[in-house]
Amino acid sequence: MDAFNLLKADHRKVEELFSQLESASGQAKLRVFEQIKAELELHTHIEETIFYPALEEPKQTHELTMEAYEEHDVVKKLLKELGRGKSANEEWEAKAKVLQENVEHHVEEEENELFPKAQAAFSTEEIETLGEQMESEKERKLRRGSSKSSSSKKSGGAKKSASKTKSASTAAKRARAGKKGGSKSSSKSSKRSSSKKSAKKSRR
Ligand SMILES: [Fe+2]
Repeated sequence: MDAFNLLKADHRKVEELFSQLESASGQAKLRVFEQIKAELELHTHIEETIFYPALEEPKQTHELTMEAYEEHDVVKKLLKELGRGKSANEEWEAKAKVLQENVEHHVEEEENELFPKAQAAFSTEEIETLGEQMESEKERKLRRGSSKSSSSKKSGGAKKSASKTKSASTAAKRARAGKKGGSKSSSKSSKRSSSKKSAKKSRR
């Protein structure tokens, strides 16, 4: 599956979950939220470790990608705060609404601005490869998650996956910092970018 279709399918799934959240009440609301949280954590993880590092290289997609990282940080903060909620009280509901609005804005910007720009900056094969990489990373994460939840207590598993999310975003930040400082730490993405640049040059 190409990167755009994969990410769009994720977006549709989250939209569906948000509409379920609206109609659910009481503890059921919290259960729907847990699904939204799991989906968004997986989605932001594959974007930040695979998709965005590639997209921050070309000039056309750089700025929007940097913005997308920041939007993810806001979403993650809200997910964390909502995750601490024991009941869907008024404050929790208000925060959940803000989360939904943030996600909707982010999805709209990705699909209407970032994806078309990426489409122009990358070849069909590159978009396909990014999709495959994200798909297998998603499967790997899901496999690890399911083996963990069957072997450990729920809270322990959640804690572990939260710290993993943190380390993933730290890795992405490191990649970004490396990019800014021009260091060798993002060797993978700069390798990709240099092959990208030469590909671009040859197309021009
Ligand atoms: Fe995203």
